[in-house]
Amino acid sequence: MGSLIARLQRLRREVLGLNRRNQECLAVLNAPRLIGLVDHKGHTKQVLQQHGLPVPETFGCYTRQRELVLLAREVDRHPEFVLKPARGAGGEGVVVIAGRAAGRLLKASGTSLRPADLVAHAADIIAGAFSLSQARDEALLEHRLAPEPTLAAFSPGGIPDVRVLVVRGVPLMAMLRLPTRRSDGRANLHVGGIGVGLALPEGRAVHAIWRDRSITRHPDTEQPLAGVRVPAWDDILALAARSYEAIPLGYFGIDIVIDAKLGPAILELNARPGLGIQLANRCGLRSLLDAVKGRDPGRLTWRERVVLGLELVERRGAG
Ligand SMILES: Nc1ncnc2c1ncn2[C@@H]1O[C@H](COP(=O)(O)OP(=O)(O)O)[C@@H](O)[C@H]1O
Ligand SMILES: [Mg+2]
Repeated sequence: MGSLIARLQRLRREVLGLNRRNQECLAVLNAPRLIGLVDHKGHTKQVLQQHGLPVPETFGCYTRQRELVLLAREVDRHPEFVLKPARGAGGEGVVVIAGRAAGRLLKASGTSLRPADLVAHAADIIAGAFSLSQARDEALLEHRLAPEPTLAAFSPGGIPDVRVLVVRGVPLMAMLRLPTRRSDGRANLHVGGIGVGLALPEGRAVHAIWRDRSITRHPDTEQPLAGVRVPAWDDILALAARSYEAIPLGYFGIDIVIDAKLGPAILELNARPGLGIQLANRCGLRSLLDAVKGRDPGRLTWRERVVLGLELVERRGAG
């Protein structure tokens, strides 16, 4: 009992809250110009691609209502695709189409819609229904990534992604997000995804949460989550650290999907990543952040920054 209370007290000291995140991390570490860049998924992908980093192919980006005819034409060319708001967040407005049947588009989660409904959804996106600032937005049409088999087994009806928190180019914490029936093909925690905290050295599950509670099994399939291990783990850490060279935001969360054919590919960078990653890992961020501040990772190569992240995590575990 005593040790439990001590642990809770330690966790409380360790957990980074929203105010601190905003004041100490976002305001200090993130240049407004770069926040503006990553708030647009299309522009982010362009920059990442110029730096040789893998991203899902963009089929089109539509800015005006009158371009929706072009969108409808482009949709006809692809049996599967993803439609999303360029400036969206938290999975809102993302539609994952995994196939067609009898003239209808099949969502990854199993439900279907008419092509006209999809175009209406794109019209809503452009009108700003899902954008961060409620301002006008763009509708982004892109290649649908297909999950590789190990993780697909844990994600009926959707695609899991890996969120890595990167501070001054150093990967510090990671979680796997698994879609559920409720989350409609998307992995975001806000729309009902599961957050599985991952041990940074090898990408192995340490703890899981769903709707803010600890869980041990997948709520749809009852599979135990303890055995999950993310494949291509070294590549994922490498992409997280290398992205900082393309877009030097001091504090970001990167979303990576492991595609069955392409391997790990980057979906987006978030300049205001949520703090649920700490709950999923049952571990606070504060001491890791302080440790990074005490170093000068700016001079390091991406490989050295990966090593530094692992070293800091290991040291905290020992302390
Ligand atoms: N190209 C894609 N292929 C397959 N699934 C995708 C794709 N893009 C997004 N998703 C699913 O939707 C979720 C949210 O997409 P993301 O681009 O990260 O937008 P948001 O800013 O809303 O989080 C992802 O976590 C993933 O589960
Ligand atoms: Mg995301």
